[in-house]
Amino acid sequence: MVARFLTNRSNAPGFSLPPGPPPLPFLGNARDINVNYPWLTYTEWSTTYGDLIYTRVFNQDIVVINSERVARALLDKRSHNYSTRPPSLVPINQFFGLGFSSVFMPYNDLWRLHRRLFHQAFRADAAPNFRPIQMRKSHQLLINLLATPQDFSAHLQTLSTSIIMSIMYDYEIAPCDDPLVAIVERALDLAVKEIRPEVTAVLTALPFLQRLPTWFPGATFKQKALLSRKYATEWVDAPFQDVKARVAAGTAAPSMVSDALRKLEGKEDFLIETAIKESSASGYAAASETTCSTLAVFVLAMVLHPHVQERAHAEIEAVVGLDRLPDWDDRPSLPYIDAIIRETLRWHPVVPLGIPHATVDDDVYDGYFIPKGASLVLLSILRAMSRNPDVYPNPSEFKPERFLSANGELTDDTSSFTFGFGRRVCVGRHVADASLWAAIASMLAVFMFSKPKDAEGREVEFEPKWSAGVTTHPEPFPCDVVPRSTNMNAEKLAELISRST
Ligand code: HEM
Repeated sequence: MVARFLTNRSNAPGFSLPPGPPPLPFLGNARDINVNYPWLTYTEWSTTYGDLIYTRVFNQDIVVINSERVARALLDKRSHNYSTRPPSLVPINQFFGLGFSSVFMPYNDLWRLHRRLFHQAFRADAAPNFRPIQMRKSHQLLINLLATPQDFSAHLQTLSTSIIMSIMYDYEIAPCDDPLVAIVERALDLAVKEIRPEVTAVLTALPFLQRLPTWFPGATFKQKALLSRKYATEWVDAPFQDVKARVAAGTAAPSMVSDALRKLEGKEDFLIETAIKESSASGYAAASETTCSTLAVFVLAMVLHPHVQERAHAEIEAVVGLDRLPDWDDRPSLPYIDAIIRETLRWHPVVPLGIPHATVDDDVYDGYFIPKGASLVLLSILRAMSRNPDVYPNPSEFKPERFLSANGELTDDTSSFTFGFGRRVCVGRHVADASLWAAIASMLAVFMFSKPKDAEGREVEFEPKWSAGVTTHPEPFPCDVVPRSTNMNAEKLAELISRST
């Protein structure tokens, strides 16, 4: 326990842990935290305890960062000390076959290698290489939305999956039931279902459970873990072998994996090849759900705020006109579209608790002692940052204008905190930004999103609900997706797209 640990320390005299709610014996604050939406509890605590809070759940010590100011001071400015992941995550991930994940890897040489591979493909000046793919897929999204508008959620998922499969593996997914996507998604579904907080808390507190034989009564988690390991091996291997064969045949187009393999120039390097394979699999998991969820938040925001859509339509019409679709060159002239993207990221960050960081060494900040991370999880609550009324007045309102100056130009606030901090900041943020822009500008140019009407012509009202988990997205909601132009059909859309490419 940190408290006991602290009393034994000689190098932090006079410094106390950050303030926090009083813990119960053994349970700590487990009963105080909203299990499904823990970010709501942490955000609420900030009004009593401030921006830096100490809490404990069973034997897990947690330091909660509730403001961007403190997150930047610790995770950015002292990043040498705050860039590893909680060691307690490692055995659990390994148990379920996900020990390879770049996202949860400790801060070590292997993580640096993964990060370098991502950086080569997705850094700010390399990410634009993927723009043609992102725009082509966004145009396909328009075709899908016109054909079956009621399936808009599935179409957003297809867009997100197809972009990441192309830029990671130069792989074109089939319109439905793609065999490689099925392998990857089967592994991810099982992992997300089984690595639940209550399972990981028990397995972390009682690690001997991981060694129980599969036949042991009640040890179904062990069978699930074995299955998860099998699925994870296939997830990592199958798309990689597919692109490797095409690189060998000389037919692979540029992508993160094909470019990295080509750099090996036929040399056998097991370490690098494994890193390419494992980082790309991690990147798929990190990219697919987050991008799709953010687009679902955007659609929800449009349904609930028709005046925002009207202003966006007017801006696109004034700059782009009606005869073609928005393209990258238009972006600087469409500040309101960018303001919508920033506000979408801020309004409901899809990774509300961030991904936990941990300290390499003891530290003191603002008079508080932050112990080194053997049993410590540092959570930067992105949701609390996005709801800070001092920075974002009336934070629950969706107001893209907050990102525009009085003369209509974009401010310096890019909502970048929604992509995390320091050396662990999201490596895919430039790619994500471009995917969001291509999809959102294209959708706004062609479609209107609105509440459906009942038989009496009244709008169907609803209360948005949110999924629980590491990432969150709106639960299914009623939405009409209708072309803005009354005479739009498949042929006219195809013409519009061909005039725009
Ligand atoms: C809207 C979309 C996205 C959001 C909101 C998002 C958000 C995040 C956040 C909050 C983190 C944790 C940062 C931290 O620990 O401080 C993260 C990490 C990461 N993201 Fe993203 N992400 C998105 C898209 C992507 C894409 C498109 C890719 C890949 C192309 C990607 C790859 C990763 C990876 C590999 C990490 C782990 C970095 C590390 O631990 O070193 N993400 N992301």
